[in-house]
Amino acid sequence: MRRVVFNQKGGVGKTTIACNLAALSAAAGQRTLLVDLDPQANSTQYLLGDQADALELTLADYYQETLSFTWFPKEVGAYVHATPIDQLSLLPAHEMLGEMMSRLESRYKIGKLKDVLDQLDAYDAVYIDTPPAFNFYTLSALIAADRCLIPFDCDDFSRRALYQLLNRVREVQQDHNRNLDVEGIVVNHFQERANLPRTLVAELAEEGLPILQTRLSHSVIIRESHQHAIPVVNYAPNHKLAEQFRSLFNELNGEK
Ligand SMILES: Nc1ncnc2c1ncn2[C@@H]1O[C@H](COP(=O)(O)OP(=O)(O)OP(=O)(O)O)[C@@H](O)[C@H]1O
Ligand SMILES: [Mg+2]
Repeated sequence: MRRVVFNQKGGVGKTTIACNLAALSAAAGQRTLLVDLDPQANSTQYLLGDQADALELTLADYYQETLSFTWFPKEVGAYVHATPIDQLSLLPAHEMLGEMMSRLESRYKIGKLKDVLDQLDAYDAVYIDTPPAFNFYTLSALIAADRCLIPFDCDDFSRRALYQLLNRVREVQQDHNRNLDVEGIVVNHFQERANLPRTLVAELAEEGLPILQTRLSHSVIIRESHQHAIPVVNYAPNHKLAEQFRSLFNELNGEK
């Protein structure tokens, strides 16, 4: 199972959701890999904290190697790192990913991520965090994945972007990856007591958009967990948001 968490809008919760679901997957005993495709490297920071600065081999180094001819390329596994969470590994990002994108694009490396994941076949579950753009990296992820989860932040601008996003994902399905399943839209930053988000979400559901049942509330606990570099499901397992993440995990993986 390879799940990409994608929305071209920034700040909707891609990183937070990818890392917390990956942590839950690892806790459920699945060998789990998180792939950070975002040059901002937020997932890398969230899972490794200060250790992230000392990383020597990142996804950027892997891509660099594919751009330069090497007689003896390193095993893909050399770029994968352990995290403090048992059973959870990380293929980390680096800011260099940003600078190298146009070279990768012009050398037709769009299928490389899929190759990499095909080689890393020891993992039961792969979560891919993507940058806030529709670019080479997000397209690579949509080609490599078999499931796509779309976070939505209850904002009116995001609502407009949702239609464009779903169209683009459909285009990728038709042109590149018929195995890609759009799992649905997960509502994040939800405020139960505010009218606007409730109405917005109800309207989207009425329009036929695939809104998932679980809502993720807006809470400062997320910032705290980012600051401590511990996913909220481990940092505060009894918090309402941790409970909601578990319910999302179960909803996505077919349990009640
Ligand atoms: N449910 C939530 N409650 C409160 N704050 C949240 C919640 N989800 C995310 N945030 C905060 O919103 C910000 C953006 O979250 P996150 O980095 O996960 O989004 P993103 O979509 O990955 O952003 P980017 O597009 O920049 O990669 C962060 O500061 C995070 O702490
Ligand atoms: Mg992010």
